[in-house]
Amino acid sequence: MDKKVQLIYDNNTYEFPLVEGTEKETGIDIKTLRAQTGLVTLDPGFKNSGSCQSEVTFLNGEKGELKYRGYSIEDLADGADFLEVAYLLIFGELPTQAQLEKFQSDIHKESLVDEDLKLILKSFPRSAHPMGALASLTSALTAFNPESVDIDSDQDMYEAIVTIMAKFPVLCAWTHRKVKGLPLNYSNSSLGYVDNIAQMMFRRPTENYVSNDIVNRALNKLLILHADHEQNCSTSTVRIVGSSHAGLFASISAGISALWGPLHGGANQAVLEMLEAINKDGGDTKKFMAKAKDKNDPFRLMGFGHRVYKNFDPRARIIKKSADEVLNELGINDPILDIAKGLEQEALNDPYFVDRKLYPNVDFYSGIIYRALGIPTEMFTVMFALGRLPGWIAQWREMRKNNEPIGRPRQIYTGQVDKVFTDISKR
Ligand code: ACO
Repeated sequence: MDKKVQLIYDNNTYEFPLVEGTEKETGIDIKTLRAQTGLVTLDPGFKNSGSCQSEVTFLNGEKGELKYRGYSIEDLADGADFLEVAYLLIFGELPTQAQLEKFQSDIHKESLVDEDLKLILKSFPRSAHPMGALASLTSALTAFNPESVDIDSDQDMYEAIVTIMAKFPVLCAWTHRKVKGLPLNYSNSSLGYVDNIAQMMFRRPTENYVSNDIVNRALNKLLILHADHEQNCSTSTVRIVGSSHAGLFASISAGISALWGPLHGGANQAVLEMLEAINKDGGDTKKFMAKAKDKNDPFRLMGFGHRVYKNFDPRARIIKKSADEVLNELGINDPILDIAKGLEQEALNDPYFVDRKLYPNVDFYSGIIYRALGIPTEMFTVMFALGRLPGWIAQWREMRKNNEPIGRPRQIYTGQVDKVFTDISKR
């Protein structure tokens, strides 16, 4: 692109090139800004800053569009299997049947976890939050699989990817079984990836496990919808940790911690707790709407608003429909769903929310489905992490293959200057 942006500073004019993406997004390339002018930019929360060029996921927040590797989220959620989407995100193309079968069989072969990891989990109190346990167990995988990945070897990279894709669902299921006091089990190589997740979570030692199509379809869709979302907080964390050449498992463990926060993946748990609180309080949604709008009240309507979407989150549309179907199919009449629908209608017609372009996000309805599937509230963010795993892997792999420099932002220092040191005895 030939167009340039001019910056006039101290009577000098500087020029910076524009970079255009394949979906016509345009950015100013300021790589030489400091060298040319001595200035840095200030952009808390990176609301206007691109940290990388990426080929993985595109989203248009104004139009409410989301695409993985060029495919619309609607088409993928409708027609694909989660493992196909994982392959697409990580390797860039949809797999052929043979490639998918090989990927699945390689994952099965790696799906044993060192038994000593159980000792680590055992040492946590039963009340420990599963996300904390999951971050620790994922970090511990590094100790049990110490080989570092040779970034220039496709085989090495493939093996690391298969290892984490195989072992991560086992660890997620174990955090659930720990809370429930159930024995820690393994996957079954005759089942598919998503069916195995359900089996590892729900199988009881005293009964045969029977696959449930409704559960599998709902889980498959939820995992696909959460699989990537370009440079969000946890993905940026994975990329920035990996940029120091920390390993894949260590980087993903950091991403899990970032995801846990209630302003990010932890919102799905917070939404359900909020809906339950409204229900317990008598179901008066207007009272909670007023709280959300009151600037003296820290309460926010959880599941509403998004840093990038200033229109409907396309994932929320799909999930809302899916919540209706799942509750119908399972014959569940959940008052929480009615409260959610009521809140959504009020917010969509309220000038406070309309003016600020606050729409329901992916987490507003996902918890209702998880609850219908019998997944406890504190496991919701773990389910998000399970879905996000391929996105984290794809973004980490891209960052390393592009040989990106270590992530290290600048700052504007606003602290005290030139203080004179006094000995402790004189203070
Ligand atoms: N309820 C009430 N008011 C809100 C909400 C909300 N959920 N979200 C934003 N606002 C208001 C803010 O108070 C602010 O108002 P002001 O301009 O009068 O000061 C304005 O809308 C803009 O909000 P910011 O916080 O500046 O927006 P930002 O982009 O920084 O935050 C975020 C986005 C964190 C998602 C925010 O909307 C929020 O806290 N939502 C609730 C938590 C949530 O659902 N998180 C999940 C996000 S999706 C995901 O991570 C998968």
